[in-house]
Amino acid sequence: MIVASINHKGGTGKTIVAQNLAVCYAQSGNKVCIIDADPSQNSMRWFDARGEKEPRIPVFANSSYRTIRRTIEDLYSNEGYDTIIIDSPPSLERIAEEILKISHLVLIPITPTGGNDIWSTEQIAEEIEAISKEKGQTIPSYFILNRLQPNLKVHQMFMEALKQHSKAYKVGIMKSQLHLRTVYGMANLYGQGVYEQSDKKAITEVVNLANEVQTLFEKL
Ligand SMILES: Nc1ncnc2c1ncn2[C@@H]1O[C@H](COP(=O)(O)OP(=O)(O)OP(=O)(O)O)[C@@H](O)[C@H]1O
Ligand SMILES: [Mg+2]
Repeated sequence: MIVASINHKGGTGKTIVAQNLAVCYAQSGNKVCIIDADPSQNSMRWFDARGEKEPRIPVFANSSYRTIRRTIEDLYSNEGYDTIIIDSPPSLERIAEEILKISHLVLIPITPTGGNDIWSTEQIAEEIEAISKEKGQTIPSYFILNRLQPNLKVHQMFMEALKQHSKAYKVGIMKSQLHLRTVYGMANLYGQGVYEQSDKKAITEVVNLANEVQTLFEKL
């Protein structure tokens, strides 16, 4: 399956979601790679930091809208990667369009801190709608809540607003949620996913997310 982690707002967790999904699938024996479509190349740096003991997850840098689709097609159809995760740049340029076109499933990480987090997803949702129309096929897209702090007062109001937004834009909401935990940053620093660290709650939430994504893909 080809899964995009995308949002044109910066810092919402696109890279963290991409890396943690890749690690979960690699740890369960899949042949996984990451496409680093962000010119800042955070996932390339992560690969460089990754130890030899962990399963190898190749990261291919491709931030060219001209070549990204063919590169992914080749990896998927000819090179035997069964799982390709795209770490997208925080922009709505042509590369985003190409990523949306090739992905079986689109995840939009969103940080529940205020209205801006919701409103700033309107453009990507409109883009998904436009490409779905063009393809004659809906691109399955879901918000994934990241850096969640459920005890904050704003959280409940945020969730209500997000549900309205989700209905209006036909973007689902993943049942799995990722909480604010320092282990995400720690794992990232060492080229790992939280699955490879010892925080059980973090491991459970990323495994739940990986399973939910897999189930959604199998139902397509
Ligand atoms: N659930 C989390 N708990 C704690 N820290 C997190 C969590 N998710 C992300 N972070 C941290 O927040 C920062 C932004 O995350 P990340 O780099 O994944 O966002 P991004 O959307 O890829 O950003 P950019 O738009 O710059 O590419 C990073 O320092 C990351 O380690
Ligand atoms: Mg990133």
